[in-house]
Amino acid sequence: MSEFIIWFTGLSGSGKSTLGENLKLKLDELNKNNFILDGDNVRKGLCSDLGFSDECRVENIRRISEVAKLFVDSGQITICSFISPFRTEREFARSLVDEDKFIEVFVNCPLKECEIRDVKGLYKKARSGEIKKFTGIDSEYQVPENPEIEIKTDELTINESVDLILDYLKKGGLL
Ligand code: ADX
Repeated sequence: MSEFIIWFTGLSGSGKSTLGENLKLKLDELNKNNFILDGDNVRKGLCSDLGFSDECRVENIRRISEVAKLFVDSGQITICSFISPFRTEREFARSLVDEDKFIEVFVNCPLKECEIRDVKGLYKKARSGEIKKFTGIDSEYQVPENPEIEIKTDELTINESVDLILDYLKKGGLL
């Protein structure tokens, strides 16, 4: 059974959702059941009561982790795209599934580059103080120490990045 969690972590604007969506397309082509959990579908519903304090982020990731585990139990490859800034919560997510069924992907893009992209205009607001506790500005991002995969999205194309992930999964017998 090929069910596992692909967990994208990284700064806002680093490319987590884009990579998740493009990975999904490839998995669909391979007829692999999969589902995406990310801020867009989770923070509007399941976690709509949560903001961006440390406590809220912890609870956000706790709920998402439990949901991801349920999806894995139902036989889906579960793609999670969340900043997930704290190591402890990422390790909690990992602990819920078998050892080889959690693939942490560090979407590594320098803050400077994320700020230049500023896809949602949020960095500008964070710099001006309009938004508080913004990851990388006045809220911490704890860099993964031993991610299964690291992707430098300022150096690779989307296709190259997705291929890296697919190669890893194939080599590990997960696809
Ligand atoms: S997490 O820290 O709890 O993992 P999550 O991935 O769900 O965060 O949501 C991050 C998204 O929420 C960002 O990409 C951005 O669009 C938006 N956002 C709004 N306020 C903040 C903030 N203070 N810090 C980071 N992201 C924020």
